[in-house]
Amino acid sequence: MKWKQRTVNCGELRPGNDGKLVILNGWIHSRRDLGGMIFFDIRDRWGITQIVFEPEINAALAEKAKSLRSEFVLWIEGTVRLRENPNPNIPTGLIEIAVGEFGVINKAKLPPFDIADNIDTSEEIKLTHRFLDLRRHSLQKNFIIRNQACQTVHKYFADNDFLEIETPVLMKSTPEGARDFLVPSRINKGKFYALPQSPQIFKQILMIAGFEKYVQIVKCFRDEDLRSDRQPEFTQIDIEMSFVERKDVLSMAEGLMKQLWKDVLGVEIETPFARMSFRDAMTRYGSDKPDLRFGLELASLSDIVADTEFKVFSAVVKSGGEVAALNAKGCADYSRKQIDNLTEFAKKYGAKGLAWIKVKADGIQSPIAKFLSEDELDSIIDATNAKEGDLILISSDKWMRCYTILGALRLEIARQTGIMDRVKGQFSFHWVVDFPLFEKDEETGEFNAMHHPFTTPNDEDIDKLDTAPDKAYARAYDLVVNGAELGGGSIRIHDSNIQRKMFELLGMSAEEADAKFGFLLEALKYGAPPHGGIALGLDRIVMTLAGTANIRDVIAFPKTTSGLSLMDGSPSEVDIEQLKELGLDLLKR
Ligand code: AMO
Ligand code: AMP
Repeated sequence: MKWKQRTVNCGELRPGNDGKLVILNGWIHSRRDLGGMIFFDIRDRWGITQIVFEPEINAALAEKAKSLRSEFVLWIEGTVRLRENPNPNIPTGLIEIAVGEFGVINKAKLPPFDIADNIDTSEEIKLTHRFLDLRRHSLQKNFIIRNQACQTVHKYFADNDFLEIETPVLMKSTPEGARDFLVPSRINKGKFYALPQSPQIFKQILMIAGFEKYVQIVKCFRDEDLRSDRQPEFTQIDIEMSFVERKDVLSMAEGLMKQLWKDVLGVEIETPFARMSFRDAMTRYGSDKPDLRFGLELASLSDIVADTEFKVFSAVVKSGGEVAALNAKGCADYSRKQIDNLTEFAKKYGAKGLAWIKVKADGIQSPIAKFLSEDELDSIIDATNAKEGDLILISSDKWMRCYTILGALRLEIARQTGIMDRVKGQFSFHWVVDFPLFEKDEETGEFNAMHHPFTTPNDEDIDKLDTAPDKAYARAYDLVVNGAELGGGSIRIHDSNIQRKMFELLGMSAEEADAKFGFLLEALKYGAPPHGGIALGLDRIVMTLAGTANIRDVIAFPKTTSGLSLMDGSPSEVDIEQLKELGLDLLKR
């Protein structure tokens, strides 16, 4: 079938092109019949242009146009002219094309939903027809941003003398925190590769190999529960540097963020970013990734209520827990129902209850007031800086849980009171530093690495590995913007003995450590330089740049929260023959 190739795209014509003969290619976006004339909006990647058929001028052509439907692919030849009813909302809104000739390049089935924003169609239908959903300019815009971001990354690191080096996608299973995706080996039956959760070990070995400065935009795979900011396969900007201290890695990452915001948004962000310790972040904001665009700081009440008669509080303090509060500014008129809902919300984060105090014009209102002395109440109001009209929410629990609950409430109150809307469009970057080296599993009592097992303890804490490992701090850091973790990294262990000790503390026998990580332990013995790095989540960076809260908006072919790719239907069953070839059998089919 013959068709004519475009001479211009659908986003570029302006009044200056009046009278020009042009050819467009594109999809039918919409149709309007008005006063005997037929108007179509034609869409391509660059924009939308209105074309018009006039029965009075060319009846046969207009008749032929009647059979056109949404999403048909057309070529159109016609003359640019000024519109009688301009559309100020689109760049081409001052002109239209009077069609002289056209042809259908390809027909389209009736789409199951309109190619438009804010349509009331289920995610399931949209993801099944991802090729149609991706036609929306508002989604395409995100991929243009993603592309720009990648260009900036390549250029920034080339300018800074980094080498882009690819690391394997089929590797040894060396769990880093999440579960591995496994790939069976056909040639070595009964053996498996794993897909990398990150190139962590390879990039460290590249440092041992002497490459000094490595970067890679790389796919990572983690079999973990999915959320709005998590996908099972996602992309990192992965960085590693030799002969560096923490400050060198942080400033390299800051420079990149500055360049990205400048190139993509034209926004100047201030560097260096502020740094906050993990402990401060938790006690002031109840999160290791605090949103610092607004205040609503938390206050510890443990000292005030340590000896109170109200046992819900004093017993927790005595057992080493924490009592702390959030001042929900201006929420004193919350109804019983609203407070019940906050309590339910807190329970999702493990709260056993939520105490509250309303500060009203005529005094204090609170179900726990009768258990507290006048002095204690006054001190609580002081500590939370509460004024008339405020609502104080109090949590009493183990330290970590107490602050996690209040941190979640802080965000919820910010959403409910409109603070979140007011801070939209602002960017608050900062580093969270000085993480504990380990976190203790509450159930098993086992240590887990807070970042990963390759992170070095603070110099002054090395001795604590033998005496009090839970008191040791790590040279790890997270990059946070607006309450989202954009990246994380650390200075690494470059001493084989300390690395072995770490594995031991994590509950690994020497044999197990050798079996899993022997190659790293061995490599570390051959003159490993001091090194460190960071991985930034590219998807999350693009989410922030594009202003979307859903990671699926920045990944062309994402998975659902249950890990399905609805368009191609993966994961799927495979032939019994295929399994046999791999030496596999299913427990049940
Ligand atoms: P970490 O596990 O903190 O560190 O990951 C770094 C960054 O990757 C992004 N990220 C994700 N994005 C989308 N979906 C996911 N499932 C997902 N998981 C992580 C986040 C996160 O901050 N090897 C270390 C880095 C290092 O130490 O250099 C690592 O992978 O933005
Ligand atoms: P109770 O003694 O369980 O009736 O609780 C008395 C008050 O203390 C109620 O307002 C509870 O919501 C609150 N409360 C109970 N447990 C906690 C807790 N762990 N943290 C904060 N408040 C609590």
